[in-house]
Amino acid sequence: MSVVTEGTADAARTAASGETILSVNDLVVEFPRPGQPTDFRAVNGVSFDLRQGETLGLVGESGSGKSMTALSLLGIVPAPGKIIEGSINLRDRRIDNLPVNELRKVRGNDIGMVFQDPMTGLNPVRSIGSQLTESVLRHQDVSKQEAIELAFHALDDVGIPSARERLEGFPHELSGGLRQRVMIALALINHPEVIIADEATTALDATIQAQILDLLRERLSSATMILITHDMGVAAEICDRIMVMYAGRIVETGTIEEVLTSPRHPYTVGLLSAVPKFDIRRPKLVPIPGIPPTAEDIVRGCPFAPRCRFAETDCDQRPPLEYAEDRLVACWHPRLASERKK
Ligand SMILES: Nc1ncnc2c1ncn2[C@@H]1O[C@H](COP(=O)(O)OP(=O)(O)OP(=O)(O)O)[C@@H](O)[C@H]1O
Ligand SMILES: [Mg+2]
Repeated sequence: MSVVTEGTADAARTAASGETILSVNDLVVEFPRPGQPTDFRAVNGVSFDLRQGETLGLVGESGSGKSMTALSLLGIVPAPGKIIEGSINLRDRRIDNLPVNELRKVRGNDIGMVFQDPMTGLNPVRSIGSQLTESVLRHQDVSKQEAIELAFHALDDVGIPSARERLEGFPHELSGGLRQRVMIALALINHPEVIIADEATTALDATIQAQILDLLRERLSSATMILITHDMGVAAEICDRIMVMYAGRIVETGTIEEVLTSPRHPYTVGLLSAVPKFDIRRPKLVPIPGIPPTAEDIVRGCPFAPRCRFAETDCDQRPPLEYAEDRLVACWHPRLASERKK
C-alpha cells in the first residue's frame, strides 16, 4: 500500500437537508497485483452521504471505480478485491464488516441492486417466479402462496405483460428490455430502503432505454437511489445530486444543476461539452485527450494532472476534496465563477 488516502470524510458532506440513510467514509477497495509491490486501488478514499429520497448520480469514465463503490455497499466486491479501509453505515448500523448471512439480509431487505446485464442478477436456469418467490420468502414472513402473489404483482407493477404466465418462464425467453424489468421487480420486491442501479439502461436500445428510465422515474420517484451512468443526459433527467469519479476518487460533487451548468473540476468540464450554453437536458459528452491512469501508474499528485490543460506545478500534490465556492472539488485550480467573470 503505497498510495496515501487523503481528503476528509467530512469534506464530502453537503449541507443539504434530509435524513442520512447511507454513509460511506474513506472507502478503499484494493485488488492484489501478483508479483508487484503494491496493490491496485480501485476505490481510493471515497466518502459520501446518501439522504432519504435523494437520487445520487455516480458518473465517470470506464474504470474509475463506480461499480466497485456500488458493490462495496452490498458486500459483493469480487475476489480477490476487498475493502481494506473505511466504513459503510446504513443508518446507525455498520454494514461493511457483517458476517455473510447478515450481509445477505441487507441485500434485498435494505439495499436492492439493478445491474447493467440482467443475466448477472438473474439465474438463467431457474424460472422467473421461483427467483422472485425465493427472494420474498427469504426476506418476508409470508406463506408460499402469498409469495407467489407478491411475485405476480411485482412483475405486473413493472409492466410485464401476462405477468402470471411469465412466472413460469425463464429469463432467456424475454427480450432485453423485459429482462431488465424483471431485474427491477426483483430489486424492488422486498421494498429495500436504497436502490442501486448500475448502468441499468446502457445495454438497451434507445426506445427501450427511454421506457426503462420512465419506469425507474415513475416507480422510484420518492426512493433513495444511487444511479451509476456514463450518460450525463440520463443523470440530468433523474438525479438530484451528482458525484464525479476519477481514478478511484470523487473529484466533484454538487446538485445536478450546479455540476452541469458550472462544472468546477477540469475533468468535469472535459466530460461535458465546452459549448457555453449546452442543453441541460441533453448535455453532450466530449472525449478528453489522454487516458485515465492505469493500475500501473502510481500517481503521487492529482491523478488528472497529466491530462489537464489547467495543471500547474503545485498539482504534483494531491488535492483534497474541499469546498470551492458552492462546490466540493478535488482540484488546486477549480474553475471558479468569480474568475470566469473577469
Ligand atoms: N477482478 C478484478 N481484478 C483486478 N482489477 C479489477 C477487477 N475488477 C475491477 N478491477 C479494476 O477496478 C477498477 C474499477 O473498476 P470498476 O468496475 O469499479 O469501474 P467502473 O467505473 O464501474 O467502470 P465501467 O464504467 O467500465 O463500468 C478498474 O480499473 C478495474 O480494472
Ligand atoms: Mg461499472
